[in-house]
Amino acid sequence: MMSEYTWFEGIAFPTLAVQKEQLEDICNTFVVKEEDLIILTYPKSGTNWLIEIVCLIQKKGDPTWVQSVPTWDRSPWLETSYGHPLLINKEGPRLMSSHLPIHLFPKSLFSSKAKVIYVIRNPRDVLISGYFFWGKTNLVKDPESLETYFEWFLKGNVVYGSWFEHVRGWLSMRECDNFLVLYYEDMKKDTKGTIKKICDFLGKKLGPDELELVLKYSSFQVMKENNMSNFSLIGDDVVTNGLQLMRKGTTGDWKNHFTVAQAEAFDKVFQEKMAGFPPGMFPWE
Ligand code: A3P
Repeated sequence: MMSEYTWFEGIAFPTLAVQKEQLEDICNTFVVKEEDLIILTYPKSGTNWLIEIVCLIQKKGDPTWVQSVPTWDRSPWLETSYGHPLLINKEGPRLMSSHLPIHLFPKSLFSSKAKVIYVIRNPRDVLISGYFFWGKTNLVKDPESLETYFEWFLKGNVVYGSWFEHVRGWLSMRECDNFLVLYYEDMKKDTKGTIKKICDFLGKKLGPDELELVLKYSSFQVMKENNMSNFSLIGDDVVTNGLQLMRKGTTGDWKNHFTVAQAEAFDKVFQEKMAGFPPGMFPWE
């Protein structure tokens, strides 16, 4: 049975994972520390891949941590009722994930030097990835068809709100030194280069062998087989009929699903909503 959404500031959140009072508290009082590292994304943009890479970088390629501790304990989701207490009780530098839009993120971030990595993915692929993912959970309303989900996505009537507003909002921080923007498409095209970029941003140095280990253990196939990373530990209260986090891991899958009319409608909305960004801002356009 699907639970109702939790609504906060006009944005829908999955009730099974997020509680309104807690969310209010997080937005108003959670204190970001200088030494925190925050992984921010709109859902289905490559969050778990980036978490895996960062965890492996922190351990210089040693896979013990990623093979023994679930993703949500290594990098708890700030806005979730499960993740929030873990983070407030953790001492020392914290790694955390979040899908919150910028206007709901704890204000303390904006006066802190905590590092943030924001991953952006072609929203057409985000839409398809989300359609196949959320539909196999009890976390969202069942759209019943891709046509319906397509309409909801373009209007922002999906959990965590509009992709366009999320990305627009967070990109306003792109000139800040403590803010790194990555693209899923670049991560796919040049994974090693992306890992090096993340290392530079974090001030970490990896030897060539260590870099190869990070590459190996964060690869799609290895993550798909790692029970700590592939969501196979998520319980039946959330999962229905075979949830797969590691679905395809490709770019351009939307072309296998959109009709010509949908592709045109999407282009139109993208151009309207993302007008004003410099050329080259979105590598897939
Ligand atoms: P698909 O559904 O298109 O396969 P998130 O972690 O934000 O929920 O994003 C999930 C998407 O990232 C899924 O996309 C998943 O396959 C992809 N992904 C996860 N790990 C990956 C990896 N190591 N390499 C490539 N894609 C990966």
